[in-house]
Amino acid sequence: MRIADLRTPAALVDLDALERNAVRMGANAARLGVRLRPHVKTHKTLEAARLQVRGQFGGITVSTLAEAAFFAAGGFSDITYAVPVAPAKLADAAELAGRIERLNLLVDHPDAAAAVETCARERRAVLSVFLKVDCGYHRAGVDPTRAESAALAAGLAASPHLDFRGILTHAGHSYRCRGADDIRTVAAQERDVMTQFAGRLRAAGVRVEEVSIGSTPTLAVADDLSGVTEVRPGNYAFFDATQAAIGSCALDDVAFSVLVTVIGRYPERRELLLDGGALALSRDPGPAHVDPECGYGVVCAAGGAPLPGWRVVSLSQEHALARSAQGLPAAAFPIGSRLRVLPNHSCLAAALFERYAVVRGDLVVDEWRPARGW
Ligand SMILES: Cc1ncc(COP(=O)(O)O)c(C=O)c1O
Repeated sequence: MRIADLRTPAALVDLDALERNAVRMGANAARLGVRLRPHVKTHKTLEAARLQVRGQFGGITVSTLAEAAFFAAGGFSDITYAVPVAPAKLADAAELAGRIERLNLLVDHPDAAAAVETCARERRAVLSVFLKVDCGYHRAGVDPTRAESAALAAGLAASPHLDFRGILTHAGHSYRCRGADDIRTVAAQERDVMTQFAGRLRAAGVRVEEVSIGSTPTLAVADDLSGVTEVRPGNYAFFDATQAAIGSCALDDVAFSVLVTVIGRYPERRELLLDGGALALSRDPGPAHVDPECGYGVVCAAGGAPLPGWRVVSLSQEHALARSAQGLPAAAFPIGSRLRVLPNHSCLAAALFERYAVVRGDLVVDEWRPARGW
């Protein structure tokens, strides 16, 4: 089967690019002296995760309990569920933890910690936990400068029902950066906030085995991770238009695209109507802080080469409008012709598809099915 035979919109995974990205991040982690625990939420597939852990210790990170169960069934046995756990999900989490080598849970509040401890005690089990730390993103995590945060860590470490693994953060604010130098500053902050907090906890007698950090942008530029034990980048498997715009990859590295068909032509507006809307590309606003005209993705020819001057300028559920800055020549892009779009956020766009067409060049070589649900 060839790409031209696919029904659109179709999610394409470029296997050559994915393999390169996986190898490069593995080498990066080895050079930096840290373990790589890739976040697999970007693609949610066993096949891509297996590529990411090749030559690594085998641990992965997931963002839903459904993913944790899916990857456990696929043979992964060391999993970090990297979203603070909802109390109502604890029974399922504990049941899964009992079936694999390790399921790490996250807490960032004393009530959540108490709920995990109660669940473990009632089951006469020991549950693995990380304390989630806010290193500047301000989404989740404790403030490491507050005494209550150190007290929470000490409480976790003292519980006979918990295996306190250490501290974990995600520098999501790296996505607000404007280039590699800017990202370097966030990467240093992510490392320093965590190693300093770990140092304070250890000085107070708390055993901190793991110092876990990681985002794709900060890992793309980090050159010294002394004091860090593991990294959890995820988006690097696919990359996307945002990562290219902020300087953590080149457009050539992007391994995920959406194949679409031209279903309307409006030369007077220099616009094409495409059959992949918000339910194929997602409505992620993208890197508007570095490129106010970024729209909803980078438009490429059917073969994958970016088309200069073209942008996806608007989306509705099943329609997208792509506009050219230059004009729309009469013979170009007829109705029925194909284009590819590199979405702003590959994790969100990929999650909209039930299957991915895995391609090498023009050939469809496989079909992968991602985990679904929560
Ligand atoms: C807790 C956590 N860890 C790691 C990651 C991976 O970051 P990235 O997708 O930038 O590689 C994410 C992504 O959202 C995350 O939320």
